[in-house]
Amino acid sequence: MKKIQISPSILSADFSQLGNEIKKLSDAGADMIHVDVMDGHFVPNLTIGPPVIKDLKKYSSIPFDVHLMISPVHKYIEAYAKAGADIITIHPEATNNLQESIDKISELNKKVGVSLNPKSKIDLIEKYLNQIDLVLIMSVNPGFGGQKFMPEVLEKIKKLVQIRESKNLKFDIEIDGGINFDNSKLAIEAGANILVSGTTIFKSNDGNIKKNIDLLRSI
Ligand code: DX5
Ligand code: ZN
Repeated sequence: MKKIQISPSILSADFSQLGNEIKKLSDAGADMIHVDVMDGHFVPNLTIGPPVIKDLKKYSSIPFDVHLMISPVHKYIEAYAKAGADIITIHPEATNNLQESIDKISELNKKVGVSLNPKSKIDLIEKYLNQIDLVLIMSVNPGFGGQKFMPEVLEKIKKLVQIRESKNLKFDIEIDGGINFDNSKLAIEAGANILVSGTTIFKSNDGNIKKNIDLLRSI
């Protein structure tokens, strides 16, 4: 089994203190930093752009796991790569040509992530899986933190594990949305090896980030 990694989403952080929040997460043992980029068009919410990511990179050396919820995404890939994204995750519905967008991320020497919304099927990305480093399974409809986990996506994770084995592939499986101390176990058992969490990490146990990261990691 792959090592379980925790990718805290800074969507639930104090936006007036983002640099310090990232330092705290990395000191508390986070494996990467999940950055939710939203455009008010692909999803009904707005967050941050490349200059913010560029400045935040100074606060930690752990990888930045950048989840792009923007459409059309292709023309922005380079800006996020240059800003310091280490993993660039896109949604297949947000590009006219998934192959070209995957190639672009690879050419920029970044890890390729592709994300499936709760209703999106594996068919959308299956033929590209050999070129993908990470599949991000959304367990809420993207747009906001603090939503309720949708357990039906666990089946999709199990199916991905089977495909990965049968094709002898290596991609990571990350899950994002509504992760808490109860369903983290279910997600890991289904086959997810990277857990994204915003609300649980920042708000549970009076905001004890280290405790919350450790609890999510242990099953
Ligand atoms: C939702 C984002 C998630 C979200 C996770 O669109 O992609 O990363 O912030 O936050 P919680 O853990 O609060 O669901
Ligand atoms: Zn996300």
